[in-house]
Amino acid sequence: MKTTLIALAAALTLAAPLAQAQGSSGKLKIGLMLPSSGTYAALGTAIENGFKLYVAEHGGKLGGRELEYVSVDDESDPSKATDNVNKLVKRDKVDVLIGTVHSGVAMGMAKVAKDSGTLLIVPNAGADAVTGPMCAVNIFRSSFSNWQPGYAMGEAMAKKGIKTAVSITWKYAAGDESVKGFKEAFEKGGGKVVKELTVPFPGVEFQALLTEIAATKPGAVYTFFAGGGAVKFVKDYAAAGLKKSIPLYGAGFLTDGTLDAQGAAADGLVTALHYGDGLTVPRDASFRLAYAKTYKLQPDVYAVQGYDAAQILGIGLAAVKGDVSKKAEFAAAVQKAKIDSPRGAFSLSRSHNPVQDIYLRQVVGKENKVIGVASKALADPARGCRM
Ligand code: PHB
Repeated sequence: MKTTLIALAAALTLAAPLAQAQGSSGKLKIGLMLPSSGTYAALGTAIENGFKLYVAEHGGKLGGRELEYVSVDDESDPSKATDNVNKLVKRDKVDVLIGTVHSGVAMGMAKVAKDSGTLLIVPNAGADAVTGPMCAVNIFRSSFSNWQPGYAMGEAMAKKGIKTAVSITWKYAAGDESVKGFKEAFEKGGGKVVKELTVPFPGVEFQALLTEIAATKPGAVYTFFAGGGAVKFVKDYAAAGLKKSIPLYGAGFLTDGTLDAQGAAADGLVTALHYGDGLTVPRDASFRLAYAKTYKLQPDVYAVQGYDAAQILGIGLAAVKGDVSKKAEFAAAVQKAKIDSPRGAFSLSRSHNPVQDIYLRQVVGKENKVIGVASKALADPARGCRM
């Protein structure tokens, strides 16, 4: 009896450190939930490329752990979001979730991350709620909130003396919130949004609305479109002959990663975003070289956000020696870090959203040339975040 107890005690003593170590050894499973089909497919690819570039620069390891990936094409379809993310969390038992592009899908991911406690880093989707009412110790964003570029552009347009604007966007969280941020600043600066037009996501039937814009004759148009939809919108706007009479502005996604396909239709457009061409940031120069060499492509804002998602993960993991279960320590390390991003160094706010400069850019040839800073160190108001 006594020997059995001693043996049991010995076994337990041996087992305890083993069990503890399991959280921080072996491969770290990354659930990549991004679109690889639909209007945002190219954005998903750029994010994955950026993420994997950072990991490769660190020998395939972060926080001392080798990474392995499980990927899901989320199709930018919010109705499939919960099922898709549950597959990663419950079936594949991933340690970390990285995703996604579409705000509606990201809100589904954030809900599951919050409920399950799985670490989530959002490398694009701007849904204000993710770092607002849904904010949590284990949820981070390497990109922006929808409010941020909209607000900065609204401020800049009011400063230019534009008095009236029509907004046009997709009818879903990203479009609604981008316009809301724009309107808040534009109207604070003395402008008036006279009409808010929308099309269902991911529709590209713009003709009737372009006719309505022409008839309304506002001082300018503000828009949020991205990916394939942005290519079509910019071309249709120019083809309708509106470009010269009614200046088109937007959140910078309108012209990021899209210029090859937009051609001359995009020439001269002014947008606001947290990245651009011609920055004099040393990290940007090395990042661009490495990205171009690896993928034979020029990086865009999405590639930067993917790269920085990996940086954030690396900073947190180093602090907890690879043990993702130490959420408070992970968050504390990330929050006091300066993220050495190609966009320029930034830090995360209390709600885990980047506090960052929003640049004004103008399309010149195939570049979004930075022509100024629309808003310095802009922090999302994080309305509704209790943490
Ligand atoms: C979003 O749905 O939040 C979204 C999608 C594409 C972008 C930006 C934001 O380029």
